[in-house]
Amino acid sequence: MALLETRNLTRRFGGLLAVNELSFSVEAGAIHGLIGPNGAGKTTTFNVISGFYAPTSGQVFYQGQDISGQKTAAIAARGLVRTFQGTTLVTPFTVFENVLLGCHLQARASLVAGVLGSDRAKRRAATEKTERILEFFHLTDRREETAGNLPHGLQRALGMAVAMAADPKLLLLDEPFTGMNPEETRQMMELVRRLRDDGVTILLVEHDMQAVMGLCERITVMNFGSLLAEGTPEEIRGNPEVVRAYLGAADFGLDALMAEDGHAA
Ligand SMILES: Nc1ncnc2c1ncn2[C@@H]1O[C@H](COP(=O)(O)OP(=O)(O)OP(=O)(O)O)[C@@H](O)[C@H]1O
Ligand SMILES: [Mg+2]
Repeated sequence: MALLETRNLTRRFGGLLAVNELSFSVEAGAIHGLIGPNGAGKTTTFNVISGFYAPTSGQVFYQGQDISGQKTAAIAARGLVRTFQGTTLVTPFTVFENVLLGCHLQARASLVAGVLGSDRAKRRAATEKTERILEFFHLTDRREETAGNLPHGLQRALGMAVAMAADPKLLLLDEPFTGMNPEETRQMMELVRRLRDDGVTILLVEHDMQAVMGLCERITVMNFGSLLAEGTPEEIRGNPEVVRAYLGAADFGLDALMAEDGHAA
């Protein structure tokens, strides 16, 4: 059974069909790509799956249950967690405080009362969880640094570390590679793989085709809100309709898309 499945998922904004009868599924344990030209409807799809927008019609199934139209907090509490396009850190706080805050919010969301209060055991649990997460993300050395002072790549890693505080089973990543240099990209790819190996299923929206082709086992392609194609990286790269859709748009990543080995020339 798929971990996530959308059935004829549709979201309108007035006359605009941002997501149009989209049906696709993500297997547990996968790194699954969701790509398409600018404005194709990828972020809107994330917004509907994660409960930020209600679907106009259609359904979202998660772990076999219909979660369409549920509130974000209820969906996140089930382990379906998203990150945002761009960072959402509390920049004046330290690295440690950002993750700790995430752990406290999570503890509260899961109705463990009084985490911030006098119960020292619960506070210690949140602190230990924060330390584990920082260790996993190789951020322990940076724990006392102000989040806003970290280099771009590490701010992105920290954003994912905060998301991990919510104990995700399925993590929706919206353009985690944007603005990264090649070394940051390499490290982020490694991090995404380690998260998956740690048991987190990944649905990745990304324009960096080298990252998408290098990471994903399956890729779903959207264009103008609709499903355009689905397949392995090889199948997607060799699909003339996909190439045409990107040519019709701002040819984002086209070189990488067409390159034989998936690496931009
Ligand atoms: N809240 C909104 N109100 C009105 N229109 C919206 C809203 N959110 C998105 N749209 C429109 O829906 C369409 C799909 O946008 P969306 O952000 O989902 O695309 P995207 O595939 O994520 O693009 P990008 O790759 O540029 O991030 C666009 O035409 C966008 O302008
Ligand atoms: Mg987007």
